[in-house]
Amino acid sequence: RRRITPSVIAALKGERPIVSLTAYTTPIARLLDPHVDLLLVGDSLGMVLYGMDSTLGVTLEMMIAHGQAVMRGADAACIVVDLPFGSYQASPEQAFTSAARVMKETGCSAVKLEGGAEMAETVAFLVARGIPVLGHVGLMPQLVNTTGGYRSLGRNDKEAEKIRRDALAIQAAGAFALVIEGTIEPLARAITEELTIPTIGIGASPACDGQILVSDDMLGLFNDFTPRFVKHFATLAPEITRAAEAYAEEVKARRFPGLEHTFQPRK
Ligand code: KIV
Ligand code: NA
Repeated sequence: RRRITPSVIAALKGERPIVSLTAYTTPIARLLDPHVDLLLVGDSLGMVLYGMDSTLGVTLEMMIAHGQAVMRGADAACIVVDLPFGSYQASPEQAFTSAARVMKETGCSAVKLEGGAEMAETVAFLVARGIPVLGHVGLMPQLVNTTGGYRSLGRNDKEAEKIRRDALAIQAAGAFALVIEGTIEPLARAITEELTIPTIGIGASPACDGQILVSDDMLGLFNDFTPRFVKHFATLAPEITRAAEAYAEEVKARRFPGLEHTFQPRK
C-alpha cells in the first residue's frame, strides 16, 4: 500500500466512509495500519497514556515522540498529529513554527488543531505554507476550562449555529477534512451535508463522512467510565487482569519460569 495522502482522504467524501482511529505507539500503529485510512496521534494521549485529567498538560515534545513512534509502525495510513494546547493559539506564526517542527521531526502528513472561526486565519496560514490541516469543531477538549466540561453541544439554536459557522470557516480556510466531536446528531448530519470537505465524527452522527474513536476506548482497555459514543469492539481490560493474576500466581507458586524458559549451559 502507498501512503494515503490528505487529498486522498478529502476525495473519499461521497465515495465511502473514512475509517480512522487514534494511535500513540509503534505496535498498536502496526496492528491498526492495514485497516484504517487515517491514524490520529491525538493529544488524548495525555489522558489515555499518561493519566492526566485533561489534554492541557500535553507538550509538543510528547506529540513529536509519539508521532515518531506511530510513523515507525504505519506505512499506509495517513498520519495526522494533534497540535497540543498552547502550541498554536497565540498566533499563526506560533502555529506554523509548531506544525513545521511536528512535520519535520515525525514525517507525518498533516496536523490537527481545535477551533472554529477564531482559528480560521491560522488554518489558512498553515495551508498556504504547505501544512495540510485537519480541523476539529464541536466539543473541543482543549477548551474544557472555558466551555465547562465534556457535555454534548448544539442543543440550542445559538450554539448549533455557532458550530455550523465554525465548520464553514474552517472549510473556507482550506482544511482537508473536519473532525466533529460531541454534538447532537442532527447538527453533525446537517454540517456533513453542507460541507464539501469530509466530516469525521466522534460522538457525532452515522451520517458523517468518516468515523474516529480513541483506540484504547474501542479496545476496552479501561475498566472505568465509558462515554455513550464509545462502542467496545474488544474488551481487553479483563484479559490483562486475568493475565496479571495468572502471572502473579505462577511466580508465587514457582510454576513460572519453567526450565524451558531458562538458558542451560552447553554440554
Ligand atoms: O485527541 C484525540 O484523540 C482526538 C480525537 C478524539 C478526535 O482529538
Ligand atoms: Na485531540
